[in-house]
Amino acid sequence: MDCFRSPTRLLISTIVIVLFVSSLQFHYTEAYDALDPNGNITIKWDIISWTPDGYVAVVTMFNFQQYRHISAPGWTLGWTWAKKEVIWSMMGGQATDQGDCSRYKTSPPHCCKKTPSIVDLLPGTPYNQQIANCCKGGVINSWAQEPNNYASSFQLSVGAAGTSNKTVKPPKNFTLLAPGPGYTCGPAVVGKPSKFLSSDGRRVTQAMMTWNVTCTYSQFLAQKTPTCCVSLSSFYNDTIVPCPTCTCGCQNNDTHPGSCVNPNSPYLASVVNAPGKNSLTPLVQCTRHMCPIRVHWHVKLNYKDYWRVKVTITNFNYRMNYSQWNLVVQHPNFDNLTQIFSFNYKPLTPYSTINDTAMLWGVKFYNDFLNQAGPMGNVQSELLFRKDKSTFTFEKGWAFPRRVYFNGDNCVMPPPDAYPHLPNASSRGKWSLFVFFMTCLTFIFLFE
Ligand SMILES: *[C@@H]1O[C@H](CO)[C@@H](O)[C@H](O)[C@H]1NC(C)=O
Ligand SMILES: *[C@@H]1O[C@H](CO)[C@@H](O)[C@H](O)[C@H]1NC(C)=O
Ligand SMILES: *[C@@H]1O[C@H](CO)[C@@H](O)[C@H](O)[C@H]1NC(C)=O
Ligand SMILES: *[C@@H]1O[C@H](CO)[C@@H](O)[C@H](O)[C@H]1NC(C)=O
Ligand SMILES: *[C@@H]1O[C@H](CO)[C@@H](O)[C@H](O)[C@H]1NC(C)=O
Ligand SMILES: *[C@@H]1O[C@H](CO)[C@@H](O)[C@H](O)[C@H]1NC(C)=O
Ligand SMILES: *[C@@H]1O[C@H](CO)[C@@H](O)[C@H](O)[C@H]1NC(C)=O
Ligand SMILES: *[C@@H]1O[C@H](CO)[C@@H](O)[C@H](O)[C@H]1NC(C)=O
Ligand SMILES: *[C@@H]1O[C@H](CO)[C@@H](O)[C@H](O)[C@H]1NC(C)=O
Ligand SMILES: *[C@@H]1O[C@H](CO)[C@@H](O)[C@H](O)[C@H]1NC(C)=O
Repeated sequence: MDCFRSPTRLLISTIVIVLFVSSLQFHYTEAYDALDPNGNITIKWDIISWTPDGYVAVVTMFNFQQYRHISAPGWTLGWTWAKKEVIWSMMGGQATDQGDCSRYKTSPPHCCKKTPSIVDLLPGTPYNQQIANCCKGGVINSWAQEPNNYASSFQLSVGAAGTSNKTVKPPKNFTLLAPGPGYTCGPAVVGKPSKFLSSDGRRVTQAMMTWNVTCTYSQFLAQKTPTCCVSLSSFYNDTIVPCPTCTCGCQNNDTHPGSCVNPNSPYLASVVNAPGKNSLTPLVQCTRHMCPIRVHWHVKLNYKDYWRVKVTITNFNYRMNYSQWNLVVQHPNFDNLTQIFSFNYKPLTPYSTINDTAMLWGVKFYNDFLNQAGPMGNVQSELLFRKDKSTFTFEKGWAFPRRVYFNGDNCVMPPPDAYPHLPNASSRGKWSLFVFFMTCLTFIFLFE
């Protein structure tokens, strides 16, 4: 009879509201960077010295994004010169195309294009062509994952430019491919000149002039089809809810033969090693979802005060090893994460009061490298959460993540009504009845 007293009604309403709100989150619109609202790539253009016909500048890209990194084959930075500038020489980077330098009779410049495209040099570049922070093949890690390695620099000597801070003009129309489209860059803004500390820390020098450009990512511009999906299972229900069919494409042998390969196919080796194997288009294993990446969330165990989840990331792409991969997961119980095995963890708290989002990535030299599709193509971890009795439940898919990103790309979840559910709770009416009884039990348990 305790169940009909008002504190109980309050408790029931609270739980119902909490469940209602958490079910709403499934339909939350995909504002892509809601989890990293200030994320950007800042390009700093420091004029270090003036030359007879221009200047020498060091250009540095800072990846101020928590979880989006720039993977192989790396960034390409472009711009449009404001005047008739040329690049006499470069260090730590190179223009992909020299362009027409015929107006220079002797010793042609490095690049004469109006719209040069710059790429990083590769690791192993001779020391006399390197500068600090260069020569990483254009790969930049994310800010959260490697706070000491989120920048990339090159130096260029510019000719036919202004030779004082009154006559130089910043380039226009910056473009950043990282490596595909997705970034939009703003105009160059004149800022406070950067200061540089000498290596012995005893002298400070200053740039003649500094311009900043900010580039931000939008999935809309990238216009990528999904690359990742989520499947779910639990100890309390035998059903494994697979990734939605055709999430990343459909198997179609008539119109796209060879759009995927079977792991036991005798042709696998030849296809994987075929020319063009370095192309960015994935070659996936044939699955119903056709995604290069699947994240599986298994609710593994239920203890009195804790519950345990196993997360497995599987690579179905025969053409891609993911180094320095990362996963972003949103679940309300992350504020009570007690232990995590074999992955690194960092809470992401863009809205400082809500601690429900975790960034997970591999342990260096152990599982930070996600192998191409095949028997080695997976990494896994277990998470132990402490139950907060007022919110914890196995009902209504509460134990499953609200959102998952792999390398900054949204992973498509199964529809909420397909989630594994507790036995005997298939209809909504039964569900409320179940919650009601569970609440009574909790109440009795708590107050007796
Ligand atoms: C870019 O990110 C940095 C670091 O979070 C931040 O300080 C800066 O204000 C951001 N720039 C813009 C234009 O949002
Ligand atoms: C150019 O340099 C002069 C003197 O060094 C300084 O007073 C002026 O503000 C600078 N102008 C710009 C646009 O930076
Ligand atoms: C900026 O660059 C883009 C792509 O290279 C080009 O389509 C556009 O016309 C350029 N805009 C200006 C003002 O140069
Ligand atoms: C330019 O970017 C650098 C690096 O983030 C920052 O230290 C500096 O304050 C920025 N300057 C302006 C004017 O935004
Ligand atoms: C496509 O071919 C593979 C084997 O080559 C087969 O397993 C698969 O069922 C076929 N898919 C369709 C939609 O016909
Ligand atoms: C992935 O790495 C493995 C082991 O280092 C290597 O044998 C394989 O060729 C790589 N695959 C690709 C597509 O780069
Ligand atoms: C978020 O919760 C986790 C797990 O309890 C804790 O380790 C972390 O410090 C919290 N972060 C913030 C910013 O409150
Ligand atoms: C869960 O974490 C929140 C915020 O850190 C804290 O207030 C609460 O007491 C924790 N619950 C349990 C059961 O540890
Ligand atoms: C397990 O979940 C599935 C999917 O929601 C449901 O159809 C099935 O009835 C559940 N199994 C049991 C034993 O309740
Ligand atoms: C509830 O589950 C039990 C055992 O799984 C089964 O025997 C019973 O028929 C179920 N009741 C309903 C209403 O589904």
